[in-house]
Amino acid sequence: MKYTYPYCIMIINLIYKSLRRIYNYICQITDHLICWWLFKGNNAHVKSFRTIGTPYVMVAMEGKLLIGNNFSMNNGIKGNPIGCYSKCTFFVDRNATLIIGNNVGISQTALICHKSITIGNFVKIGGGVKIYDTDFHSLNSKIRKSKDDLNNRIEKSVIIHDNVFIGAYSIILKGVVIGENSIIGAGSVVTKSIPANQIWAGNPAKFIRNI
Ligand SMILES: CC(C)(COP(=O)(O)OP(=O)(O)OC[C@H]1O[C@@H](n2cnc3c(N)ncnc32)[C@H](O)[C@@H]1OP(=O)(O)O)[C@@H](O)C(=O)NCCC(=O)NCCS
Repeated sequence: MKYTYPYCIMIINLIYKSLRRIYNYICQITDHLICWWLFKGNNAHVKSFRTIGTPYVMVAMEGKLLIGNNFSMNNGIKGNPIGCYSKCTFFVDRNATLIIGNNVGISQTALICHKSITIGNFVKIGGGVKIYDTDFHSLNSKIRKSKDDLNNRIEKSVIIHDNVFIGAYSIILKGVVIGENSIIGAGSVVTKSIPANQIWAGNPAKFIRNI
């Protein structure tokens, strides 16, 4: 069945799309400026980046955030609809180091670094992924009730090697190392390290197959 739109609807559609394009173009410029300011203000070292939307950036005075060339970032629904309205989050605590290599692309990803997170080159991280290197709280119930809770949390470095692809809404937990070229299925919870060239998925993530 062929359906033809009335002429006036087509005109409205055309005007809407043209205005949207102009709006997006202006946003692209302002987003880049705001993001540049956020990185500089947090003493982050970023070689070059492209952004849609603006992230949340918080780097403590003694923390380090280093990002390589060609970094690409989607914040909010315009960048990548899968991640909905969330922003990317870069949280680097005192004495912690977050390193991101060259040609990395992330969407609405939270990188919460209390010790060290290292992401290699050409890594792709899907919408809504969370990567953290700490349990945030002590596992001891008595300490957890006390003021010492935060001083007794476990922290272990996370390493994501080159060319890894992490599916949307996955969680990568403390101490995990993901080998080169490996893929993590959408919605996975990765609790253990994964060798190179394998697909893992599920909660907890399990081996699916070799690539
Ligand atoms: C992991 C993935 C790449 C596997 O794709 P595939 O090779 O075509 O795998 P299949 O669909 O043939 O599934 C193979 C097995 O893995 C399981 N599986 C696949 N994806 C899974 C997931 N995300 N969680 C749990 N199990 C999964 C399947 O159920 C199937 O199990 P079975 O052999 O017991 O039947 C894909 O499913 C995936 O999750 N892609 C991520 C997409 C994404 O999030 N992109 C980012 C957007 S921003």
